[in-house]
Amino acid sequence: MAYAHITGWGMHVPKKILTNDDLAQMVDTNDEWIRERTGIHQRHIADKSDTTASLAVEAATHALRMAKLPPTELDLIIVATSSPEYVFPSTASIVQDQLGAETAGAFDLSAACTGFIYALNMATQAIRSEQIKTALVIGSETLSRIVDWTDRSTCILFGDGAGAFVLQASDEPGGVLSAVMRSDGSGGNLLAIPGGGSVNPASSQTVLDGLHFIHMNGNEVFRFATRVMAAASREAMEKAGLEMDDIALIVPHQANYRIIQAAARGLKLPMERFAVNVHKYGNTSTASIPIAVCEAAEQGMLQSGDNTVMVGFGAGLTWGSLAVRWTGPFEEAKPIKVRPYRRRAWLRSVLRRIWRFIEGLVWGRGKDSSA
Ligand code: UT7
Repeated sequence: MAYAHITGWGMHVPKKILTNDDLAQMVDTNDEWIRERTGIHQRHIADKSDTTASLAVEAATHALRMAKLPPTELDLIIVATSSPEYVFPSTASIVQDQLGAETAGAFDLSAACTGFIYALNMATQAIRSEQIKTALVIGSETLSRIVDWTDRSTCILFGDGAGAFVLQASDEPGGVLSAVMRSDGSGGNLLAIPGGGSVNPASSQTVLDGLHFIHMNGNEVFRFATRVMAAASREAMEKAGLEMDDIALIVPHQANYRIIQAAARGLKLPMERFAVNVHKYGNTSTASIPIAVCEAAEQGMLQSGDNTVMVGFGAGLTWGSLAVRWTGPFEEAKPIKVRPYRRRAWLRSVLRRIWRFIEGLVWGRGKDSSA
């Protein structure tokens, strides 16, 4: 049976930084309150030219370069996101086009902040059942576009960014060892974007009522998070046959420093065993775990052969965890440049649009195609 190894990882955040002091100019808040209650010092915010797909493509480029895997060899792309480019087409299809991943299937996965854990498990299962050999899993967000910048209880929390993993099949044991995926839809109302779906289709009234923004009951989500984080981490370890001492690092969803502290207390582990960067990026939803992994790996906190647990929670309510034996790029792979693939992908995409236009002229534009 094939194992799904993480052979490349990459992250990308927009350049613009919004500090707590900047936010204090916008809503009734202050740096001290935000630091004490959340641990967040600043967050990165998308520029006009940044979109969820553009951040995803940059993160993916770094991950593919590290894995030394050309985009043309990808079998599957999953983008976990809470702020997709559109309802459809999927952000993943846009990423597939921009990378030139000509033979990859692509879809978005919606499980809010737990999305990256779910997506990594889905890609793992496809590799383990030998349906595919390679996958690109991305968490990408432009939450700044769906945050109500007049609501101090939510706008201080979120940030933009993307993180990506490349997964590859190998007969060598390792990679993603176990997964836990859970949901409790009875808490769906605690964290939601109520407008724009089939219940409240977008209208001028839904916009006037602010239903297209994130609405959250922070206290309830906080209590739920502190309940599930330690339990889910333990469950993933047990499923993988690992003890607490076997785990080099726990990478939790970066929502609130106090939630991570509660998880550490629950697991009876010191904070040094946790990857923490919530102070720099705020809560980047699906991107927070892969971004934290990238930084931990860069700082030497994750080495090849180490066991790690990734654990997240979010709207749904959803939560989940994974136990992973860290791998790194396969030794036999040769270095590649990804940017030339992206340039070719751009040209290919333009040519395909032109070809579709010509086809339209030949077959008659505007005529009922089913006739
Ligand atoms: O990916 C999942 C996404 N969501 C989360 O992870 C959210 C989880 N929840 C949390 O992180 C916390 O509940 C928050 C950070 C959202 C809030 O922290 P809290 O310690 O639970 O504060 P609170 O909501 O109980 O509010 C305490 C006080 C209130 O004032 P009163 O009623 O005590 O006078 C709030 O009005 O703080 C006030 N407050 C603020 N003050 C300054 C709320 N937001 C702010 C603010 N600045 N930004």
